[in-house]
Amino acid sequence: MQRLEGRVMLVTGAIGGIGRALCKRFANEGARVVVNCLPSDLGEAEKFAAELDAPVLVFAADVSSFAEVSAMVAATVERFGRLDVAVNNAGIEIRAPFLDATEDDWRKVLGVNLDAAFFLCQAAARQMVKQGGGGRLINISSVHEDIPFEGFTSYCVSKGGMRMLARNLAVELAPHCITVNNIAPGAIATPINQAVLDDPQEQKNALSEIPLGRFGRPNEVASVAVFLASEEASYVTGSTYFVDGGMTHQVTRY
Ligand code: BGC
Repeated sequence: MQRLEGRVMLVTGAIGGIGRALCKRFANEGARVVVNCLPSDLGEAEKFAAELDAPVLVFAADVSSFAEVSAMVAATVERFGRLDVAVNNAGIEIRAPFLDATEDDWRKVLGVNLDAAFFLCQAAARQMVKQGGGGRLINISSVHEDIPFEGFTSYCVSKGGMRMLARNLAVELAPHCITVNNIAPGAIATPINQAVLDDPQEQKNALSEIPLGRFGRPNEVASVAVFLASEEASYVTGSTYFVDGGMTHQVTRY
């Protein structure tokens, strides 16, 4: 039995490492998928969407824009008649020591990671309330919704914000049977970590912080998303699921 039969599921940042895995798993579980990408990635997104064995809508939108996110949700409803699950997956990070970070870095990171999550949760929840029957909001945050990361203050603040976004919305949207949960990946082998994967010393440092001793695979994040979107997770809300090989439980070794 397919676990997401007929559900309309929107994924932002869908052609990134985790985004692709999410779309593939959702499609394989019977969902109809909205593949979001930046306008500059439209060609790549269309190529990717053609490989999915599911009804698909590709929609280019800068998710840090309220107007573009609203237009994307409207296009979803126009195409598929409803929206059942929205996944805030788009994310960026800019490394900069706090004393050197610029206003532009800060606004970019907060815009894509946190403003976008607020905008999509709101636009999606409004539609879910209108159509009735509940819905699911899933945010791909990070272990850094909890643990600090030197040189990544804007990123950590955005993810910490996503943590409280999920908790607040879980309470506020509960009367509408809309559940809200986060998935917090640790170090996953995706393009966002390419520089670390390519540098043996950096890779060794990263691995030393992961009890399971390896980077995660995008599919290992997607399987939790399938669960959270499925009937099986009907009583789960306001939680964060860590998919991090134990990274949040660093061992002190001295
Ligand atoms: C970041 C990665 C980092 C990982 C673990 C993720 O949220 O995007 O750059 O390797 O957290 O620290």
